[in-house]
Amino acid sequence: MSYPSDPILLQEVAPRDGLQIEPVFVPTADKIALIDRLSMLGFSRIEVTSFVSPRAVPALADAAEVLTRIRRAPGVLYVALVPNLRGAMDALRAGADELNMVMSASDTHNRANMRMTGDQSFSMFRDIVREVETNKPSLNGTVATAFGCPFEGDQSEEKVLDIVRHYLDLGCDGITLADTTGMADPRQVERLVLKALDLVGANRLTLHFHNTRGLGLANVLAAYSAGARRFDAALGGLGGCPFAPGASGNICTEDTAAMCERMGIPTGLDLPGLLEVSRTLPALIGHDVPGQTAKAGRVQDLHAPPATLQSASKRKG
Ligand code: COA
Ligand code: ZN
Repeated sequence: MSYPSDPILLQEVAPRDGLQIEPVFVPTADKIALIDRLSMLGFSRIEVTSFVSPRAVPALADAAEVLTRIRRAPGVLYVALVPNLRGAMDALRAGADELNMVMSASDTHNRANMRMTGDQSFSMFRDIVREVETNKPSLNGTVATAFGCPFEGDQSEEKVLDIVRHYLDLGCDGITLADTTGMADPRQVERLVLKALDLVGANRLTLHFHNTRGLGLANVLAAYSAGARRFDAALGGLGGCPFAPGASGNICTEDTAAMCERMGIPTGLDLPGLLEVSRTLPALIGHDVPGQTAKAGRVQDLHAPPATLQSASKRKG
């Protein structure tokens, strides 16, 4: 297969998707320091936090403080996930550049995650759009469980695309198709991406893959070959939805960036910088992380030959 070499835009979601599922509360100052470091590594979009119920997601209870205290780098858009109107208003007050609204293709997951029916989600989005009109933040609409739901299984493409149309009718600037628990396969991804691209241009469509079944990067390449250019990824491969059984990490930012680097696909990211920050994650959250490149090093980071070989070649020489 031949791949294009158009740039890929990676959007960092570790501070939100990554930390939301962690059992430990990462201190606010550490979250801010992490985001400030990420801001210097070439991202144009960082999802900073969620303005959700602190009872639902205690790990992000400090959303407003984090968003107001980060050091904003020019050219970086700071995104907040919002579950309802209250979250949207709080996020705007704290300075969010973009609001990420979420509903699931699966009714069961939508009720487990957002405690709303599909119709309630739609009516809540209308409220948000009406209320934020004067502030004019960028609006993104995410379809969670777009490639399958851990409760209901397969989701019909038509249902997913209907939600996409709904978001577009509301005036959303961007659309994200999320594989919440890593149920997608590359052929399915190609099919849905081609259909979504008929509705949403490549510059407005984001794919959000989780590596739950090891297919994360295969799905990225399938989506890229089909024409997608924007992907969410989390440093260290952190991440997961606390309301989806068996959820695990997003595709790993530095692994994806390293793959792109080897393939000659520009990402604009500082890969050595990403690896350096990724290596600080285990100390921050108290456990190992799934990312591979931070452990193995980049392909070009070679090792000295074994000492036995070195002394043998000295003897010969
Ligand atoms: N920010 C902070 N607190 C909020 C809030 C928001 N945006 N929206 C509601 N709350 C608080 C309410 O004040 C209430 O607090 P209390 O228990 O101290 O009285 C509590 O959350 C429940 O509020 P209610 O309106 O009854 O909502 P609910 O129980 O039906 O929950 C959500 C609905 C959407 C607020 C909640 O399910 C949620 O935050 N989900 C987020 C899920 C998530 O982040 N998933 C992963 C990312 S996709
Ligand atoms: Zn996710």
